[in-house]
Amino acid sequence: MCGIVGFASRTTPAVGPLVSGLSRLEYRGYDSAGVALESADGIKVYKQAGKVSALDALLARALPEAERAKYTLGIAHTRWATHGLPTTANAHPHVADGGRLALVHNGIIENHAALRAGLEKRGVKFLSQTDTEVLAHLVAAFDKGDFLSAVCDALRRVDGTYGIAAISSRHPGEMVVARKGSPLVIGVGEKDVVVASDVSAIVAYTRQVIYLKDGDVARITPEGIDIHSLDNAPVSREVQEVDWDIGAIEKGGYEHFMLKEIFEQPDALANTIRGRLDPAGGTAILSGLGLSPRELAAVRRLVIVGCGTSLHAGMVGKYLFESLADVPTSPEQAAEFRYSNPIVGPDDWVVALSQSGETADTLAAVRESIRKGALVSALCNVVGSTIAREAGRGVYLHAGPEVSVASTKAFTAQVAALLMMALKLGRTRRLSREAGDRLAAEIARLPELVSAVLARNDEIAGVAERYAGADDMFFIGRGILYPAALEGALKVKEVAYVHAEGYQAAELKHGPIALLSDKTPVVALLADIPGQEKTLGNVQECRARMAPVIGVVTEGDGAAASAVTDALVVPRAGVELSPIVSVVALQLFAYHVARLRGCEIDQPRNLAKSVTVE
Ligand code: G6P
Repeated sequence: MCGIVGFASRTTPAVGPLVSGLSRLEYRGYDSAGVALESADGIKVYKQAGKVSALDALLARALPEAERAKYTLGIAHTRWATHGLPTTANAHPHVADGGRLALVHNGIIENHAALRAGLEKRGVKFLSQTDTEVLAHLVAAFDKGDFLSAVCDALRRVDGTYGIAAISSRHPGEMVVARKGSPLVIGVGEKDVVVASDVSAIVAYTRQVIYLKDGDVARITPEGIDIHSLDNAPVSREVQEVDWDIGAIEKGGYEHFMLKEIFEQPDALANTIRGRLDPAGGTAILSGLGLSPRELAAVRRLVIVGCGTSLHAGMVGKYLFESLADVPTSPEQAAEFRYSNPIVGPDDWVVALSQSGETADTLAAVRESIRKGALVSALCNVVGSTIAREAGRGVYLHAGPEVSVASTKAFTAQVAALLMMALKLGRTRRLSREAGDRLAAEIARLPELVSAVLARNDEIAGVAERYAGADDMFFIGRGILYPAALEGALKVKEVAYVHAEGYQAAELKHGPIALLSDKTPVVALLADIPGQEKTLGNVQECRARMAPVIGVVTEGDGAAASAVTDALVVPRAGVELSPIVSVVALQLFAYHVARLRGCEIDQPRNLAKSVTVE
C-alpha cells in the first residue's frame, strides 16, 4: 500500500521520472499524491487529493517546464489512506524543520501517538493526522549534521513498518531511504539513481537493481549508494538484473490491464510450467523447494496461508494435496492464522501464497511458522519480494508482472504451481507412475486449455450483457469448484461493484435461497467432473425460485447446457484442472460486467494491489 519513488541525478530533471514512476505504482494506492523537489533554493512540495493524474495537472499549472530543470533530486508518493482522510493535507510528502525536510512513507508507525505527544511537548505543531508526519519531525529532531545518522536514530525509536525516502535542504544532493516490512528497491542507472516501492517504477530507467532488506538504510546521491544497518554499520547488497522489460507493464493495445492479463494466461502458465515437469519420473521437479524425498515423505500436514485471490488458490490446493498426496491440508486466511497461536511444528509444511510477496499478514504468517519450526515455502510472483526471501525456499510463478488490482493470471499460475507441488508430493507417497504421467500430460496442456476459454471471449461478453444490470449475484460450486465460485464472486465484487456471494452449492438452501428471485442470477460451476449431478440438482432448486442460472459448463455437455439459462462454455479438462478453466471464464465474465457498468476496472475504489498493512 502506498507507492514511493525517489530520483537523484546531476543533470536529469526529477519531475518527469517521479510522476511517471508514481503512475506505475498507482496500483498500490491512489487516493492522493505528492512530490517534494530540491534545488539550490530549498525544497518545494506539491500535493493533491485524488489520482496521480490530478497531481500531474497541478504540476502543469504550478511548475512551468522552464523551471523544472533546476530540480534534479526529489521524492514522491501515491497514497492509500490508513491514518486520516484522503485529503491534500494528509497527502505525502510531509515536511518538518520549517519546510527544510520532506519525507514519504509506506507502512504504519504503530507508536505514532506516543511519539507525537512527545514532539508536541517540545513545541512541534502538526499539520496532518498522519503517522508519517511524526516520522518527519522525529528525523529533524535527531539531525545533528549527518542525515543518515538522523534517520537511523529516528527509526530506532519507531515500532511498525516503513519504507521511507527523505530529503533535506541541510544536506543538498542527498536522499536517505530505509525499509522495514515495506519494500524498497534501488535502481542503479548509468547517471541517475531511482528508488521505488517496486521495480515497475524503475525498469524504464535501468534493469540493474538492489533489493534493500529489512533494517537497511541507504544514503543516495547521484554519485553513489551507501547502505548501512539501523546501527549505522556499513552493509553490502548485490546488484541484480530484472529479467523483464518495460513492455511487460504496458497495456499493449488492450483497453485495460485486467483484460491484457487475462489474455496473457496461456503464456504465463507456459512460463510457470516450463522445465518443471519430469516426464521420465511422472512427477514435477520444483528444485526451489529444496526438499529431499525423505523430507517430503515426512510431511504430516500442509497449511496453506494467503489472502484474497491467493487464499482462493490455496483452497483449491486443499483438494489437490488431499486427493493426490493423501496429506491433510488446511487453507488458512493469513491474518486469522497468524493471530491464532497456530499449532504447527516440524512435521507441518506451511506454504505461503502471495502474488506480490509483500502482503503483511501473509508475511507475518511465514515468520510465525518459521518461529515454530515448521517447514516453510512460498509461492510468489514478484521475484526478490520479502515473503519469497524470508521463506527461503519456494517456487516463483513467473507469470510476469500483474498490474491490474484484481488478480487474474497469478491465480491460475498459483493453482498450476500447487498442482505440480501436489504431484511431486504425491509421487513420494502413493500416487502411481501412471497417474503421475497422466497428470503431468494434463498440466502440459494448460496453456492450450486456457486459450480455448479465451477464444470464447465474445460469447462470454454476450452473456455478461444480459446480466450486467443485476445488483446481486450468487456463485455456487462444490468440491474443488467451490473455491472457484468464491473467486468468481470476488472478481465481480472487486471490479464491477456488484454484491456477489460465493457458496458451497449444497449450502445455498441453508439460508441464501431465501434471497433468490428472477432478479438474482446464480452462476453455477458445472464442469463435467464427479459431483456435477448434485450441483445440477441445486440448479433446479434455483430455477424453481425463478432465478436465472448462468452455468460454467463443459463443451459438448448438452445436459448441463440445457439445465441452465445461459452457458459459459469451457473445454473438457480433468478434475484437477477444472478450477483453472472455470475461473478464466469467470474472470472474463466479471471483466465484461464491469466494463458494461462503466467501472474503473484496473483501479477499483478503495482497493490496493499490495496490502502491506494488517
Ligand atoms: C489484495 C489484492 C488482491 C490480492 C490480495 C493478496 O487484496 O487486491 O488482488 O489477491 O491482496 O495479495 P497477494 O499479493 O498476497 O497475493
